Amino acid sequence: MGKMICYCIGVSEDRIIDAVRGGAHTLKAIQEATGACTGNQCKELNPSGHCCSEDIIELIKRVTGGSPSSKCSCCS
Ligand code: FES
Repeated sequence: MGKMICYCIGVSEDRIIDAVRGGAHTLKAIQEATGACTGNQCKELNPSGHCCSEDIIELIKRVTGGSPSSKCSCCS
């Protein structure tokens, strides 16, 4: 299962890593593939108190070695 990344939608780190390995190399692609980062209750549900977009971008960077851009729309 792995640790939780998106608390609003309930998407685990493993799920995100799978999606990145499957070709989702942008935040938008991850949103479409997993639904992560499409909630807007981050302040209430995510213990870190912020949106999971930064964590997702970090994971994409870690898995691909690249540096994806863009923020999600839920916290802009
Ligand atoms: S924690 Fe992912 S959208 Fe709120």
